[in-house]
Amino acid sequence: MSQLPARPGRIRRAPEGFLSPRDIREVAAGRRDFLRNAFVAASTAVAGSSLALAAEGDPAILDLPEHSKTLGRPVAERPYGTPSQYEAGLRRRESPGLTRVAQSSVSFAPLQGMFGIITPSGLHFERHHQGWHDIDPARHRLMVNGLVKEARVYTMDDLMRMPSVSRIHFIECGANTGMEWGNVAVPTVQYSHGMLSCSEFTGVPLSVLLDDCGIDLKRAKFVFAEGADGSSMTRTISLDRALDDVLVAWGQNGEMLRPENGYPLRLVVPGVQGVSWVKWLRRIEVGDQPWATKDEAVHYIDLLPDGTHRQYTSLQECKSVITTPSGGQTLLDRGFHNISGLAWSGRGRVKRVDVSTDGGRNWRTARLETPVLTKALTRFNIDWVWDGSPAILQSRAIDETGFVQPSYAQLRAVRGTRSIYHNNAIQSWKLAETGDVSNVQVF
Ligand code: MTE
Repeated sequence: MSQLPARPGRIRRAPEGFLSPRDIREVAAGRRDFLRNAFVAASTAVAGSSLALAAEGDPAILDLPEHSKTLGRPVAERPYGTPSQYEAGLRRRESPGLTRVAQSSVSFAPLQGMFGIITPSGLHFERHHQGWHDIDPARHRLMVNGLVKEARVYTMDDLMRMPSVSRIHFIECGANTGMEWGNVAVPTVQYSHGMLSCSEFTGVPLSVLLDDCGIDLKRAKFVFAEGADGSSMTRTISLDRALDDVLVAWGQNGEMLRPENGYPLRLVVPGVQGVSWVKWLRRIEVGDQPWATKDEAVHYIDLLPDGTHRQYTSLQECKSVITTPSGGQTLLDRGFHNISGLAWSGRGRVKRVDVSTDGGRNWRTARLETPVLTKALTRFNIDWVWDGSPAILQSRAIDETGFVQPSYAQLRAVRGTRSIYHNNAIQSWKLAETGDVSNVQVF
């Protein structure tokens, strides 16, 4: 930033934090005046008065509050830390009416309220086909069988004694942004892009286990991963990929995986759609052809315009989204704003992110926060001075292989409009003169 603004523009950052599901439906239906009015009134009362008093001395600075004059709470009060009571609104949310069965559902990560690239474990999105379990690690086992010299069964103890690595990777469900294929503009980035998270995972490379069992290199071409839940979640992974960077992981962000994310063991398949990251992992089989299981033959396939289905699409292609400002938020001031968002690519590192504030006519290159890691989220930021006129905000990512995130027109030309999965089109947020931000599609 060349010059610090005298008065940075203010934004209501995490709207869902203050909204009930009913409110969210109201927002979606466009009945949002009550929100804006309520918030503007409140912010004028707080921010307006403090600015006026700044010159003479703000009592919030001059008068010591109770917490500066009394003892705080004891160390042992919270043996496992939790967020401040004032952050209670930042949470995973289910999309009302998306699924009929709560166990076969998804909770979306609140991307609009997070910083940097790491998703706090308690906010990591969830996608379960048949609910989650808290499995006793002492009784959990992983079997490796099939085209191996010796089939083996590992305890958690056996696995955690092996040489481990820790790596930061994103996971994105193939169905992320799926609602937008049909031009349903869901109200917030939490619902449009929130089946996305990024963590540091710790585990043993799958190659070490396969080596331990001795794969039959002449015949082996694929591995099959199976979860221990009742959903019969099974996925085929090519042997090349399995031997490359796949992990059998027990750690997430410095602690054991959360039960919702596969405790005590899950597969981490960097760059590949979330469904292949089999949770509660119980078996790896080595084989010579793909298994074509239900989650490969019926689900997670792409319906193309000519009526055929594309199977085994696995890589999550280059994609980005502006998280602030984003749908449902309101810019309360003209002037300086930091436009911030996330970019990622299943093919490797993000090379560049361009941002447009005029619906794609002009683009400026954003700053990438470091580190920029392979197959991980990358945070981008760009300065912007809003002059109060309507604007369309967009981001477009380019990865190190040269893959450029497509517009909706480009994506639909190849993929049609009847897909569910693998939508990586450029997202547009419309900023109205009122400061309200909403989801629109620009072709
Ligand atoms: N593994 C099992 N055993 N059961 C499941 O339902 N869901 C898959 C995958 N692994 C699933 C699973 C899907 S569709 C996704 S997108 C990711 O887990 C979601 O991982 P998360 O819940 O940790 O975000």
